[in-house]
Amino acid sequence: MQAQPNLKRQSSQPRRLTDSIYNRFVQATTWLIVGALTAGALVLAGLAYWELVIAEGAHLGQRVVVLLYDWAAQRYEFIKKFDAEYEDRALGQPLALALRRTTPCHVLDVAAGTGRLARSLLSQPAFAGAVVNLDLSRAMLLHTRHHQAQHERRVHRVQSPASRLPFADDTFHAVSFLEALEFLPDRKAAAREAVRVLRPGGWLLLSNRVGPDVPWLSGMTFSRPEFLAMLSELGLCEIDVQPWELDYDLAWARKPL
Ligand SMILES: C[S@@+](CC[C@H](N)C(=O)[O-])C[C@H]1O[C@@H](n2cnc3c(N)ncnc32)[C@H](O)[C@@H]1O
Repeated sequence: MQAQPNLKRQSSQPRRLTDSIYNRFVQATTWLIVGALTAGALVLAGLAYWELVIAEGAHLGQRVVVLLYDWAAQRYEFIKKFDAEYEDRALGQPLALALRRTTPCHVLDVAAGTGRLARSLLSQPAFAGAVVNLDLSRAMLLHTRHHQAQHERRVHRVQSPASRLPFADDTFHAVSFLEALEFLPDRKAAAREAVRVLRPGGWLLLSNRVGPDVPWLSGMTFSRPEFLAMLSELGLCEIDVQPWELDYDLAWARKPL
């Protein structure tokens, strides 16, 4: 009668050992799965941040870029915090000076956003011309209205892709293309298109992204020598490239007469 408990104890020990190994295995597997899922979610969040915030959707095509700008239009000015004095010094005043002998004078701002160039240029007493703000984002174009109400008759808005400008050759006395070339799928073709609509003797203002984000924008920017080479290939003259803002180079160049 007394042997029974002993027998039970003997048979339950290997079972407990198996159970404990099994439990540890389940625990380890659960942690492994949780770890892998967390790592996957972090990688996905990192990729989404990189593509949607740093590259602004550029690798996902024109539609995604424009969708993001439509969505962000209301906050764009708040995010950019444009300094009117700096804008005048870097853009409005020198461009008004370069165009002072040109009347009538027509300026095109490609990928104009909320119309920063027009705002600065139209406020210069030396400039009496008109500005076309062209952008593919309707919401960005709508925001130019709030900022240019007092110059309404001298501002035109065109919703169009920068890659196919709806204008004849040699139309504008100046074309600006600021902070946008990096979002175009074919940057050289887009720059060529800007030069096409520029009149002989007209000025091109073109920015190229530089700075700490560039390694993350693979294939979207030019190195400075590449940028200079592209401007020469476009047949431009009087090329001058200077650092501008925190993370851009700005080229001023002329289409030969
Ligand atoms: C960073 S914002 C620059 C806006 C303005 N040039 C400035 O400096 O404030 C980029 C602008 O490019 C426009 N854009 C992006 N892809 C475009 C395309 N394919 N055609 C026309 N505009 C485009 C966006 O809608 C946005 O307004």
